[in-house]
Amino acid sequence: MQNTIVIYYSNKGSNKYLAEKISKELSCEIEAIRPRLNSFFLFLMNIHFGNRSLKKDIEKYERVILVGPIWVGKFIPPLRSFVQKYSSGIKKLVFVTCCGSPYAKKDEKFGHGLVFKEIEGILKEKCTLCQAFPIDLILPEDKKDDPDSLMKTRLNDDNFNGEIRERFNEFIQLLSGK
Ligand SMILES: Cc1cc2nc3c(=O)[nH]c(=O)nc-3n(C[C@H](O)[C@H](O)[C@H](O)COP(=O)(O)O)c2cc1C
Repeated sequence: MQNTIVIYYSNKGSNKYLAEKISKELSCEIEAIRPRLNSFFLFLMNIHFGNRSLKKDIEKYERVILVGPIWVGKFIPPLRSFVQKYSSGIKKLVFVTCCGSPYAKKDEKFGHGLVFKEIEGILKEKCTLCQAFPIDLILPEDKKDDPDSLMKTRLNDDNFNGEIRERFNEFIQLLSGK
C-alpha cells in the first residue's frame, strides 16, 4: 500500500474522529493542521493567518488524505492554506469530509460537491478522490432534514455504524487497493 499520511482540521470533533479512524484502518501516520490563530468566526469571514508548519515532511509521502469540514459552501481557510503551502510537495491527495450537506444536495449552493470541484481545480490530477460522509447518514429518518440535528450531531463510537460504517468500509477498501 502507498505510503500515506492523514492531515486533518476539525473544530467540533467529527472530522478528527473520521481522520483518526482512517489513520487507524490504514495504519498510517496522522497530523493535525494547527492554524496560527484558531478562530472559527474569523475563518467564516475568510480571515486567516496561515497554519503552523507541519512536523511531518509531506514530500516523504506518496499520498495525503486531507480531512476537514465544509462551512457555508467553502473550502475552509485552514485546509485551503495547507493545500496552497504544500501543493508542490503533495504527490496525490484524497479529500474527505464529514459535512452537513447530504448526497442529494451535493451540487446545491452549500453542497460538498462544489468544494470538491474547487479542490480538483486547484490540484488537478493530483486530486485522485473526494469523499463525503454527510452527518445525515447517522440520523434517524425523521431527523435527516432537521437543521438543528444536522449542525449539532457529532461522530462517535456509538453512532458510527449502519450506512456510514458501510460506506466507510468501502472507502477504506478503495484506498487499500489504490
Ligand atoms: C457555521 C457552519 C456552517 C456550515 N456550513 C456547511 C455547508 O455549507 N455545507 C456543509 O456541507 N456543511 C456545513 N456545515 C456542517 C459542517 O460541515 C459539519 O458540522 C462538520 O461535521 C463539522 O466538522 P467538525 O466537527 O470536524 O468541526 C456547517 C457547519 C457550521 C457550524
